[in-house]
Amino acid sequence: MKNIYDFQLRSNDEFKAAQLESIQNPNSFWGEIAETFQWHSPWNSVLNYDWSIPKTEWFVGGKLNITENCLDRHLLIHPDKLALIWEPNNQRDKTINYTYKQLFDAVCQFANGLKNHGIKKGDRVCIYMPMIPELTIAVLACARIGAIHSVVFAGFSSTALAARINDAKCNLLITSDGSYRGDKVVPLKEIVDVALEQCDSIQKCIVFQRTFMDVNWDDKRDIWWHDFVEGLSSHCPATIMDAEDPLFILYTSGSTGKPKGMVHTCGGYMVYTAYTFLNVFQYQPEDIYWCTADIGWITGHSYMIYGPLSVGATSVHFEGVPSYPNWSRFWEICEKYKVTQFYTAPTAIRALAKQPTKIIEGYDLSSLKVLGTVGEPINEEAWNWYNTYIGKNNLPIVDTWWQTETGGILISSLAGVSQQKPTYATQPMPGVQVALLDPDGKVILDKEAEGILTINHPWPSIARTIFGNHQRYKEVYFSAYPGRYFPGDGALRDSDGNYRITGRVDDVVIVSGHNLGTAPIENAINEHSSVVESAVVGFPHEIKGNALMAFVILYNDVIYSPELVGEIRDEVNRQIGPIAKPDKILIVSGLPKTRSGKIMRRILRKLAAGEIDSLGDISTLLNPEIVEEIIESLSKK
Ligand code: PRX
Repeated sequence: MKNIYDFQLRSNDEFKAAQLESIQNPNSFWGEIAETFQWHSPWNSVLNYDWSIPKTEWFVGGKLNITENCLDRHLLIHPDKLALIWEPNNQRDKTINYTYKQLFDAVCQFANGLKNHGIKKGDRVCIYMPMIPELTIAVLACARIGAIHSVVFAGFSSTALAARINDAKCNLLITSDGSYRGDKVVPLKEIVDVALEQCDSIQKCIVFQRTFMDVNWDDKRDIWWHDFVEGLSSHCPATIMDAEDPLFILYTSGSTGKPKGMVHTCGGYMVYTAYTFLNVFQYQPEDIYWCTADIGWITGHSYMIYGPLSVGATSVHFEGVPSYPNWSRFWEICEKYKVTQFYTAPTAIRALAKQPTKIIEGYDLSSLKVLGTVGEPINEEAWNWYNTYIGKNNLPIVDTWWQTETGGILISSLAGVSQQKPTYATQPMPGVQVALLDPDGKVILDKEAEGILTINHPWPSIARTIFGNHQRYKEVYFSAYPGRYFPGDGALRDSDGNYRITGRVDDVVIVSGHNLGTAPIENAINEHSSVVESAVVGFPHEIKGNALMAFVILYNDVIYSPELVGEIRDEVNRQIGPIAKPDKILIVSGLPKTRSGKIMRRILRKLAAGEIDSLGDISTLLNPEIVEEIIESLSKK
């Protein structure tokens, strides 16, 4: 029987051949790769789809449990190989390692705890935890028994957490007393207590003791993690899942209204994340892979947990931040664990590039073989710095384009195997069929072009729906260009067929790699009792990529004060979290609007970026005088 490593592409010719084969014969292409996994029963058909509904099913009728593929099957070959190397926030604290056997035991034990408390297949479990090994254990324990995990990034506020718990109707919440982030201690349980006042569905709250800080306690609801697992067996049979049963929900911002709970399923997601992990990063069995993301985002799910574990990899998980105790922390970790693949975000690269290069010279980075980036377009300056100072002009850089919705990497070079081009994500992965469209939705046939990026054919890890709202899923992703998946990004294509992602074409702004819809931020600002209306737009920022500017109209009788601006920021912090706080808030007497009353965001974006010479024709606006007023206020700032 073939092994997944037999499908690792080793040359550009093999890559091209795989691309061609995957387009000509997608079913046999993915079927053969899927056969390298452990299934309880085989599938009846590889792919069944109809994007007019839209419906996508892979490995239809196949039965499996993803944790058997991530854990059990490795126990037979290398039980003592390290699965996880955990580096704590404070480097003076002890590193904790988990071998595959130890991780298996911990996952099974926690899964037995979940079962004892009545959690069963299909139930939703919310996980709101810092970057500690118990987060990975909780995720895998849910998958073990078929419960659907919904991880919420531990930087979100209590209001945002409550909204996600209520949307998914979670029965159980897993958290910790507090968390460490650099020199800060965050009272997570306190945030949870406030959130749970608004959540009727949660019956139990499991609390891991991380900081040993004082916490309020509800005897009927709260259980310490250590009591929860006390005396439980470290064997837990895996619940057999259908390939199309949900594995997890993960929320992402939309350009309007509430966050979207993207639903990923077991079979296709497993096959695709494993295949892309092996190929993009060219992982070899003895490598030490480090992705600096947080498990609260899709990168953490796919390329810190499921992808690496399903191929038996060793990964570093880091609890802290790149600046603590100083800006050499990342390089110190690379040296300490002899990291071979290093995967981070452009916003981190830009912040690191601001530091004196002398910092890097003090560390031995010779173990590095591959560098990666994800989350937003990487600018040329950041790319060059990464290449020169970390790659020493000698390492492949994979610029991986994908989304929460796509589950896995869709466009990227394969490290050292396919051609790379600075600032270009380059070529679609095997199995990914891309088309560029013009604004009328017509396919652009010219090789060299700029247009709207769409995908023509299903790949195995596409999110199957938005939890509880299939209609919204259809509208957002499949209605703009019927028959195609619309990711919401624009792209450039060069004459060799390489793609450069140019950014969002909707009202989503990527701030420090976080995807933020402007509508929920405006809603939060409008909640302030002094605010009539607001509009939020992104503008270019040296480190964060983009930052947010809010234009705010106050009620007539309200007197402006710096405290008021602070309160507006706090409101955003309270409702969403610190990542969504606008960098700039400008109080205005009106917003530029079309005659039909629509806010002209294009003009606000130009104003926020200081591009007042290229505003275009504003005479058709309902209130052109407001633009002059805003320009004047901005010049006084
Ligand atoms: O605009 C694209 C940008 O991030 C969006 C997806 O955000 P999220 O769902 O939070 O997932 C981020 C991690 C996969 C995309 O629609 N994006 C992501 N990667 C890149 C990128 N833009 C340009 N280049 C990339 N490599």
